[in-house]
Amino acid sequence: MNQKWKDLDTPALLLDKPALLANIQTMSEFAKENSLNLRPHIKTHKSIEIANLQMEHGAIGLTTAKLEEAEVMADAGITDILVAYPVSSQVKIERAIRLLQKGTDLKLAVDSLEQIKLLQKALEKTGHTIEVWIKVNSGLNRCGVEPGEDAVELAKAVLFLSQLRIGGIFTHAGHSYGAKNAEELKHIALAEAEAVVSSAEACEKAGIPIPVRSVGSTPTYRLAGTVDGITEVRPGNAVFFDSIQVGLGVAKREQCALSVLVSVVGVYKDRIVLDSGSKTLCLDKGAHGLDSVKGYGFVVDHPELTIERLSEEHGVAVFENSSDLRLNDKVRIIPNHACTVANMFDEYTLVEGDRVSGQWKVDARGMRK
Ligand SMILES: Cc1ncc(COP(=O)(O)O)c(C=O)c1O
Repeated sequence: MNQKWKDLDTPALLLDKPALLANIQTMSEFAKENSLNLRPHIKTHKSIEIANLQMEHGAIGLTTAKLEEAEVMADAGITDILVAYPVSSQVKIERAIRLLQKGTDLKLAVDSLEQIKLLQKALEKTGHTIEVWIKVNSGLNRCGVEPGEDAVELAKAVLFLSQLRIGGIFTHAGHSYGAKNAEELKHIALAEAEAVVSSAEACEKAGIPIPVRSVGSTPTYRLAGTVDGITEVRPGNAVFFDSIQVGLGVAKREQCALSVLVSVVGVYKDRIVLDSGSKTLCLDKGAHGLDSVKGYGFVVDHPELTIERLSEEHGVAVFENSSDLRLNDKVRIIPNHACTVANMFDEYTLVEGDRVSGQWKVDARGMRK
């Protein structure tokens, strides 16, 4: 391919391949150096090509949020998958069972008595067994049992269910995205690890072995992963990074592998309009409370611009003093949240330097059936 990415139609999702490979390598080296298993969360990229690269670089398996993502990855031949989401409805359990029937080494997150009973009931009918990982709440206050005694109680209940076996305990410290400074981030990461290790130790004291103790969020995994007793990390966003990670101090702008190429579609005396609205850049400003991002994405080489407003297909950028951008000029935007933006596109355009070097599908995008 001898095309320059500047010549592409817009909006286009650009993936800087050298930056992507460096990010994959960094995660992999961290895991190796600390004797940790690496189970990247693929909700960020939803791409078979990228998942395969992560596996080639030493990941032992994948994490997904949705069963549909797990189905796409399993069909591509990656079999060790944790669905880190509470699966409890009959239709979803049946879907999980179909994955087991295909030979997927599926692990499901569990966090209530009611849920494990529903799993048991459905699995008894088919005769399958499944590995479950107890999810503990380390402060995000989303899903998960409270660490310690509540985790032990759930683990004991699993022991009585013939079709379920306990593989691990895990947590996700998503509230790290609201950390105000490095100190607070460290505090959250250590609490994340503590929630898992203390729960696992309490289970083992009660005679229930917990082989996997897993933590993961891009802001915390390097801190939580080095705590004694942790065996696995599950970074997701770290494969791309984005403006939220830069705002948190977790990544440098140069490490951000994903950007959106957009065009100027209107120039006015106090604003520039871009062909990138909420259906391209998404409305994220930090899901869990971060307020250090400016506007709806960082416009590369144009620090004077702030993307102040988005309608569906228009992005309105205001500027300090003046801007030299003209109609049909193109700029790159590093999104606030790479994971939601990737989900908006059918494909990644791979770029190396000023050239296009390939195209990869966003295989598991959407997935809302
Ligand atoms: C259970 C679980 N593990 C890992 C991750 C990865 O987090 P991040 O994208 O911050 O690395 C997430 C993100 O939502 C998650 O929910």
